[in-house]
Amino acid sequence: MYKILRKRELNASVKLYEVLAPRVAKKARPGQFIVLRARDGGERAPFTIADSDAASGSVTIIVQEVGKTTRLLGTLGEGDGISDFVGPLGLPTHFGGARKAAVVGGGLGSAIAYPQARSLLEGGAEVDAIVGFRSRELIILEDELAKASTRLFVTTDDGSSGRKGFVTDALRELIEGGAGYDLVVAIGPPIMMKMVCELTRRHGIKTIVSLNPIMIDGTGMCGCCRVTVGGQTRFACIDGPDFDGHEVDFDELIRRLAMYRADEAASLERWRDHVCRLEGGAIG
Ligand SMILES: Cc1cc2nc3c(=O)[nH]c(=O)nc-3n(C[C@H](O)[C@H](O)[C@H](O)COP(=O)(O)OP(=O)(O)OC[C@H]3O[C@@H](n4cnc5c(N)ncnc54)[C@H](O)[C@@H]3O)c2cc1C
Ligand code: FES
Repeated sequence: MYKILRKRELNASVKLYEVLAPRVAKKARPGQFIVLRARDGGERAPFTIADSDAASGSVTIIVQEVGKTTRLLGTLGEGDGISDFVGPLGLPTHFGGARKAAVVGGGLGSAIAYPQARSLLEGGAEVDAIVGFRSRELIILEDELAKASTRLFVTTDDGSSGRKGFVTDALRELIEGGAGYDLVVAIGPPIMMKMVCELTRRHGIKTIVSLNPIMIDGTGMCGCCRVTVGGQTRFACIDGPDFDGHEVDFDELIRRLAMYRADEAASLERWRDHVCRLEGGAIG
């Protein structure tokens, strides 16, 4: 069992967990992820390593509750154990000596963008963090991102906080205003990453994206996480999850992510029924 040392609610559906996993903490690098099973025999689910501390042995993950496994995890508290916690998996991000970077995060992608921004800043780059949310109450990690960047730009779709509009609007203004980026890192929903890549391609700016296809084993064995990059089939779990965004077939990724929607909804319903029968009440 991997003990939950600390749990913090970042917004109504996003929670941060610090988990005691010394061997993972010792080796973790920005861009890598873990695969966990909340309970014995449960589903495997991948989560990006948001932070790690080799001295205390803790690994931080930030989880958005979207379905059965993430909600099951949400029922666990400090002191509880997670059955399996495997990692670090995937390749660490290579920033290629960038001197002026924009790190763009959409929604929960901001949590994944946070260690990337911090790593670039610690490496001596000037970093603009541009993070977008649907509305004010969904904003997460604002203080942390402000510390991990030279300048922080927040956008909301409805204008309830920061600049009204999408992250791509803010990025376009900065690029056209002469920001002079030599690297853009974009992490978020596939459609957002696709739009960022279309923009940066026009301006000839190298762009790294972090892909989130369905993953099962996370070690290159099941083939489930295949993506097409530069016309070649790649496995996001071992060849990524970071790739050159200008080479990624986003339309295929979006189609593949939608393939299991009906099964995922049915699985959540079955779990809700099960919990209701056990506890005589509905879950969050
Ligand atoms: C490399 C990588 C890093 C990720 N990092 C984070 C993170 O830091 N925080 C976070 O909240 N989420 C992250 N995700 C997504 C997370 O794994 C899914 O949200 C989670 O598995 C959903 O499980 P569920 O049973 O709650 O939902 P389900 O109802 O099963 O699925 C809801 C949605 O989650 C996605 N999903 C479901 N199962 C998987 C799976 N096995 N692998 C990948 N995606 C899946 C699909 O898009 C699906 O439509 C990451 C995914 C990948 C591939
Ligand atoms: S998750 Fe199985 S090959 Fe990548």
